Amino acid sequence: MNEQTGEQRSYWIETAPPGIPHPPPTADVTVDVAVVGAGIAGLSTAWEVARSGRSVAVLEAGRIAAGVTGHTTAKLTALHTLIYDRLRRTRDIEAAKLYGRSQTEAVRHAAEIVEELGIDCDWEDTAAFTYAQDTKGVGELKAEAEAARAAGLPAEFVTEAGLPFPVAGAVRVTEQAQFHPRKYLLALADDLIRQGATLYEHTRVVGLKEGEPCRLTTEAGTTVTATDVVVATHYPVFDRALLFTRLSPRRELVLAAPIPAALDPHGMFITPEQGTRSVRTAPYRDGQRLLIVTGEHFTPGTSDVEERFGRLADWATRHFGELAFTNRWATQDNDPTDSVPLVGPLHLGSRHTYVATGFGGWGMSGGIMAGRLLADLIAGRRPPWSDLYDPRRVRSAVREASAFLKHQAQVARHFVGDRLPSVAGGSVDSIAPGDGAVVRLGGRHCAVHRDTDGQLHAVDARCTHLGCLVAFNRAERAWECPCHGSRFDPAGEIVQGPATRPLEKRSLDT
Ligand code: FES
Repeated sequence: MNEQTGEQRSYWIETAPPGIPHPPPTADVTVDVAVVGAGIAGLSTAWEVARSGRSVAVLEAGRIAAGVTGHTTAKLTALHTLIYDRLRRTRDIEAAKLYGRSQTEAVRHAAEIVEELGIDCDWEDTAAFTYAQDTKGVGELKAEAEAARAAGLPAEFVTEAGLPFPVAGAVRVTEQAQFHPRKYLLALADDLIRQGATLYEHTRVVGLKEGEPCRLTTEAGTTVTATDVVVATHYPVFDRALLFTRLSPRRELVLAAPIPAALDPHGMFITPEQGTRSVRTAPYRDGQRLLIVTGEHFTPGTSDVEERFGRLADWATRHFGELAFTNRWATQDNDPTDSVPLVGPLHLGSRHTYVATGFGGWGMSGGIMAGRLLADLIAGRRPPWSDLYDPRRVRSAVREASAFLKHQAQVARHFVGDRLPSVAGGSVDSIAPGDGAVVRLGGRHCAVHRDTDGQLHAVDARCTHLGCLVAFNRAERAWECPCHGSRFDPAGEIVQGPATRPLEKRSLDT
């Protein structure tokens, strides 16, 4: 518990039922479709596929809906900050229309599922806003409102957003929604079981052999044979199209505090200003609402996270008054270099393998959209937006060059991290209790953590994904890889991929 910023625990995980356990497979499995990853994209895909009558197995390395999806802010909207004007400028209005239609249909589809299955997931219809406080941002908001409207969204430019502070302007899109993502997904998982699908938790997939059929191998050695395989692991654990060159990992911090219902701004808000700030509320006890604020985006492993939590808390109290924060957590997103998610065949030669990734912070509508799109592709249908999201799309040097070069330069820097003085110069003695650092021991980079009892724990500092150096996140007690966002606990066990192997243990005696 941090006294200023609350318990380090996602509110969604804390307030959803634990969910029934889904043990790992004890024998080899054969199904029509295997889905790797049980976040919103994986479970949505499995649900859509099961509805079409195919047999499905879902394989999840941890617990279902408890990874990235369990740490989201759960805004279900087709308004994605300033995407429509960007798409109109970098592609054309047709691309913006396809994006708008596919995302809007995903929001509506989720509402239909909630109704059909009678899911109790704190669903609330509401409006989404992209706002600016600085008048310099008004021009781009007006352009976004116009582009979003041209793309088919019920969008307009407004100067009053309902926030407890003045805005210079905002794009408002009505008919959007917010919900409790884990309650929604646990209900979807229960329905999957009713439909005959099988879910396996604590089942890390470490191998994929493509063919007819495809074969997946789990860490425990069992095999899953499937006609089609979907990789929905957030950052793809199998990356034969080198998608890692087109995705940048980004972490963002979240704080939650109860507020009187009278202070509820009624909506979902985001601004690209001040390193992004996002606001929504959720139902809370005793007639109060839970204020959820998000912001401070940064590359994993590159920042003083405690300091950033403090900055976000200051911002929230400055705008909403004295707050007693109950929970804090962090989201992790993958930003695609051209701003459009990568959903479709896994690589150029793919016939039966698919991927869903790169939702850029909009994984709720994006994950549901991906589920429908992938189920269609597996069934041999091609929705009108399949080319827009196709990971094999021709890359535009112009629209991607800047993001691509920036990300690759950063990866290169972390890969050759031994030239960085801050890494090479550390010593074990200088590591405070609760902290960690990368130090050179016996000519090798070691990631050393000193626990609160003073015990030292050392693991290899080279990430097992592609070899970048990890860095310690003291606030969340994790080793993080800045290159593609893998995360490991202090003992080196995987918290989040794309890495599929833990960091190797090291001795401090060398
Ligand atoms: Fe790719 Fe670490 S996540 S090198």
